[in-house]
Amino acid sequence: MIDIIRQRRSIRKFTEQAVESEKIKLLQEAALRSPASKSANAWEFIFVQDKALIQALAMAKPFGSKLLESAPLAVVVMADDTKTEAWIEDCSVASIFLQLTAQSLGLGNCWVQIRGREHDEEESAEEYVKEKLGIPENQKVLSIIAIGYSAQERKIIPAEDLQWDKIHQDRF
Ligand SMILES: Cc1cc2nc3c(=O)[nH]c(=O)nc-3n(C[C@H](O)[C@H](O)[C@H](O)COP(=O)(O)O)c2cc1C
Repeated sequence: MIDIIRQRRSIRKFTEQAVESEKIKLLQEAALRSPASKSANAWEFIFVQDKALIQALAMAKPFGSKLLESAPLAVVVMADDTKTEAWIEDCSVASIFLQLTAQSLGLGNCWVQIRGREHDEEESAEEYVKEKLGIPENQKVLSIIAIGYSAQERKIIPAEDLQWDKIHQDRF
């Protein structure tokens, strides 16, 4: 696991190679195995492979969602916030499970934030995504995880360059 964590960098350019169905199944299993507060399991996941829909998702925000354009797979992570007050945490855990599982399968990936972001002056990114994918009113969308074979080289950050001063011992 530490090697997967070391190797993971956000990937924003993907090759045209599709993600194999066996790998998609493993990503789905990982999402469903993510721990949730009080086992509420209030999350839902949409695995989007339809090219036109992915192009539409790439326009969810003026900045920071365009990377979806070349992704062969986009996983939309959402939850019913009436089922748990910890929906943001639960969806965040599921998002990182998806990212690390993708990394372990040799797939590049990147988190695209939807919660709290604007599509334009009139519409939130969440409303835009919900309308494009027919997501019911009761769902809150947290993120979209872009996944595919990487078309870019990203350097592993050496351990000595990490912000070790963020680590405290016993007291702040
Ligand atoms: C909560 C969260 C939201 C993010 N939102 C976006 C996003 O909308 N668009 C994007 O290109 N990257 C997004 N990222 C990726 C970060 O920019 C990236 O993880 C950070 O710059 C560190 O780089 P690294 O992932 O290569 O280590 C997000 C990451 C997190 C954890």
